[in-house]
Amino acid sequence: MDKLACLDAMGIDVWVRRGTDRQPESAVEESVTDEPFIEEIIDTPDQAITQETLPVEMPVVANIEQTTDEVWNDDWENLEKRVSACIKCDLHTSRTQTVFGVGNKKADWLIIGEAPGAEEDRQGEPFVGRAGQLLNAMLLAVGLQREQVFIANILKCRPPNNRDPRPEEVACCEPYLQRQIELIQPKIILCVGRIAAQNLLKVDTPIGKMRGRRYSYKPLNIPVVVTYHPAYLLRSPTQKGKSWEDLLLARSLMEEAS
Ligand code: URA
Repeated sequence: MDKLACLDAMGIDVWVRRGTDRQPESAVEESVTDEPFIEEIIDTPDQAITQETLPVEMPVVANIEQTTDEVWNDDWENLEKRVSACIKCDLHTSRTQTVFGVGNKKADWLIIGEAPGAEEDRQGEPFVGRAGQLLNAMLLAVGLQREQVFIANILKCRPPNNRDPRPEEVACCEPYLQRQIELIQPKIILCVGRIAAQNLLKVDTPIGKMRGRRYSYKPLNIPVVVTYHPAYLLRSPTQKGKSWEDLLLARSLMEEAS
């Protein structure tokens, strides 16, 4: 898929000059950047992500300690059973079912979101609503089918009315996600949204400052990139260009790790 098709899959409109057909990449760069009223500014060609433009690795401020929880010996089957029977926090009383995570258990890419919403709670699978469709398009934009990656959330149960996860709920669920990361051993973790990023990395930095940088999931030294949540992008489509840059950064770090 060429770049324009990828951006199209993400729902990013690329403006091209009237009277021209598809243009070579460099020409498109020019045509988008010199139009002041353009909605999306796509100014990060793949090759632009070089060592020089890569941000300095941010140390993870708080300790992410591997849990001493009993999950540590679980294989996938035991872990999934344990999660589906979990009653560690109050969310078990309001859930329809747990949402364990889905995808390739040997994936290079691990996508981490916040928590199941209504549709995910009904279907038992993460990111199946509108935000999920956009996430699929974002993945496609970097050449990934949904089935190639693993998708999980900070929480395995839906918080009532989609409220933010509470610290005690995150703490109860954390060992499950940590064990999933250990089992998958992904080459890159992409956090979508503030809640995912702040809870995984144990920081309270605003998402606008986290995106575009390289973090590290310290227990395993896995590079982490943060981008906007697809639900936010649905509300603020003009931010899609920034997410596109984040995806390119994630892809380049993934390739570096290969
Ligand atoms: N939003 C998330 O963060 N996760 C889901 O699974 C669905 C919506």
